[in-house]
This record gives sequence, C-alpha cells and structure tokens, in this order.
Amino acid sequence: MSVGIFDSGLGGLTIWEAVTRRLPDLPVTYYGDNAHAPYGVREAGDIHDLTRAAVEDMWDKGCDLVVLACNTASAAALRRMQEAGVPDGKRVLGVFVPLIEALTERGWGDNSPPREVAVGQVALFATPATVASRAFQRELAFRAIGVDVEAQACGGVVDAIEDGDMILAEALVRSHVDALRRKMPRPDAAVLGCTHYPLVTEAFQRALGPEVKVFSQADIVAESLAHYLSRRPAMAGDGPGRMLTTGDPERVSARATQFLRRPLTFESA
Ligand code: DGL
Repeated sequence: MSVGIFDSGLGGLTIWEAVTRRLPDLPVTYYGDNAHAPYGVREAGDIHDLTRAAVEDMWDKGCDLVVLACNTASAAALRRMQEAGVPDGKRVLGVFVPLIEALTERGWGDNSPPREVAVGQVALFATPATVASRAFQRELAFRAIGVDVEAQACGGVVDAIEDGDMILAEALVRSHVDALRRKMPRPDAAVLGCTHYPLVTEAFQRALGPEVKVFSQADIVAESLAHYLSRRPAMAGDGPGRMLTTGDPERVSARATQFLRRPLTFESA
C-alpha cells in the first residue's frame, strides 16, 4: 500500500516532488492520466467520470489515500465523489482547501466563520474547467470576507507544458497575465490554481511583477498531507511506490525527466 498522487498528466509531479521532499520515507504512487490530458477543456461530467475511474484503479492498486493533485479534478469531481461515498477504508482528498487555508492564513482544518484577511484582490489563474466551476470562490467564501477574485482561464498552457514546449507556455502565460490585468490592474496576490503552472512560476512572477505574492500549491499541499498523516498514520502505507501512466510510458518518462531534471521511469497503469 502507498499514498496515491493523481493528476491528468504531468502537472501533479510538482506536488509529488514536494511530497517526496517533505516526507522522504513515504511510499508514494504517482498516476498520470496522460491518455486523457488535458482535463481542463472537458465538460465537468467527463472530468468526473475520468477522475473516478482513475481513483478507483488507484484504490484497487493499493492506494488507500489518493490526493487529487489536479485542481481541475478537485473542482469538477471531488465533491461529487465524496457525496456519492467512498469505499470503506479509502479516502480521496483535493488541493483547493490547503491552498485557500494558506491564502487566508488559517491553520489546518480551521472551520471558524469567514473573516477579513490580509489580501483584498486575488488573481486566480487556472484551467477553463476550474474557472467555470467557481469552486475556488465557493471554498474561499467559507473562510474569508471582502476578497475580490478575478479568474483568468489559461487556455493552451497545459497543452504546451504536456508537449514540452516551454517557450509557447511562457508566451501564453504573459498574454494571460495581460488579460487578467485588464480586469484587475493591481492584484495583491496571485494563485496558480493548476498543478502544471509551478513549472512556469517564474514566467508568472516576471509578468506579474515582484509586488504580487504568487501562491503555488506544491509545498502547501505537502505540508497539509504531512499534517493529515500525522493524525492518521495508518493511511501512510508500507510501499512500494510506483510511477504509473495511462499514456505512453516512454514518452511520459522522457517529459517527466525533462521537467524535474532527474531520471523518472513510468510504467503502464
Ligand atoms: N494539472 C491539472 C490542474 O491542476 C489539470 C490540467 C489539465 O489537465 O487541464 O488543473
């Protein structure tokens, strides 16, 4: 048994890397649904069905706890999956809540009523499906009052990253930041609400300028997982971890190695 980290493709590797750094002894299985990426341009029902099928496969493969390291899946599928009920002893968690707790300076699982927070103007960069779901605004409204959110759907960025075309990805980031600034000229903070975007964090920070605090999820989610497992050590598992993909393992291994700058070998899921 190992902890599962799921993404539509390669983006969740940013979370996987932070988790393996924060919890080096934790057996982790990464699962990329590369055959169906990107999710961010799909309908919510389709994203739910793909996410559910992958998570069930991960449960069957011995991952009792699965982290959806994918905002699009978290936004479109998590609540529906949890409401439908998960099998005994299995769990599925998302990545929105830890990010929003960090943004609103709340401790883990602090469910006190919404209150005023330091940030007033927040720019959200995410996939079209995440933006359309308004899940970020909904979760934020449970915790904070008086925060304006302007969301920018960043079409094309995930495809460019999955294709390894970082020049295109960075050009798209600049144009999405320009589009956001036309709607919200001076954000205090920017949320990278897609796990692929940490791979182009510097392009976001350069385009936004040094005065904008950029929140990206990797370390935040790793810390939140460490906290979760300290309360539920039985969910941690005893290994071994694997790298699985529904896509072409050779191609995915090559891209993953390019992104994280260390050799990574994927097998077929
Ligand atoms: N990396 C994922 C996310 O966090 C999904 C990207 C996609 O497949 O469109 O939203």
